Amino acid sequence: MDRCPLVAGNWKMNGLIASLAEIAAMGTAYDLALKKKVELIICPPATLIGLALDVAMLNGIGLGGQDCHAAESGAHTGDISAEMLKDAGATYVILGHSERRADHGETDNIVRVKATAALRAGLKPIICVGETRHEREAGEALSVVGRQIEASLPGDAPGTIVVAYEPVWAIGTGLTPTLEDVAQMHAFARERIEARLGGGKSEDVRILYGGSVKPANARELMHVPNVDGALVGGASLTARDFMAIAEAY
Ligand code: G3P
Repeated sequence: MDRCPLVAGNWKMNGLIASLAEIAAMGTAYDLALKKKVELIICPPATLIGLALDVAMLNGIGLGGQDCHAAESGAHTGDISAEMLKDAGATYVILGHSERRADHGETDNIVRVKATAALRAGLKPIICVGETRHEREAGEALSVVGRQIEASLPGDAPGTIVVAYEPVWAIGTGLTPTLEDVAQMHAFARERIEARLGGGKSEDVRILYGGSVKPANARELMHVPNVDGALVGGASLTARDFMAIAEAY
C-alpha cells in the first residue's frame, strides 16, 4: 500500500482572474522535495480552469472541477460535463459536496451517476461524504457515512476514486472532530469502501479529511491512520496558507 497524500483546494464560488496569481505563487513554492511527498490540486471555479492550466501544469499542480453533469453533452443549460472539464485541463472533479447536496438536492444516486460519468471522461472523482451536526448528535455519524459510501460510489470503478470525509458541521466553522473521531471514521470508511469495491481495492483509495483544515491543524490530522490528505476550503484561497498545509504532509 503506497498512497501518495493528496492535498486538494476547493475554491468553491471564489476566485477571479486576479486570483490566478495565488496559483502561480503556489507553483513557485511547490519544489521538487515537496512534489515527492504530496500531490497538489486546486479546484477553482470552472471559469478559471482553462486560464489556470498553463501556470498550474508548468508547476506540477493539478486542476479539478467542483461538479459535473452526468451526460456527455446536450440540452442542460448552465451545466458542465465531465468531458468539458477534461477538455479544459482538469484531471479531478469534486462530487457530492455537502453544499451541492444541500443547495441542489443532490442525492447519493445522483452523485454515483456523476462519478460514473467522471470516470468515463477520464477524470478522478473526489466523492464527498459526511454527517450533519444533528446526525452526529443523534449517534448516526457512522451509519450516515456508511450509507453515503455504499450508494455514492460506483461499484465497478474502472479508474481512480478519492473519497473525502467532510463532517458538515466542521465546514467553514473552525470546528474539527477529535483526532480519535477522525481515526474511527476513516477506518470505518475504508471498510465500507472495501465492502463496496471488493478485491482489496480500498487500499488504493485515498481518503481525505475536509472541514476547517488550517496550517495549525494539518500536521496532527495527517498523522491520523487512514487520512491520506486533505480537502481544503477557505485556507486554499491563499498560497501562504495552502502551501503551509502542503508542507505539513
Ligand atoms: O471542500 C472543502 C470544504 O468543504 C472545507 O471547507 O473552509 O472548512 O476548509 P473549509
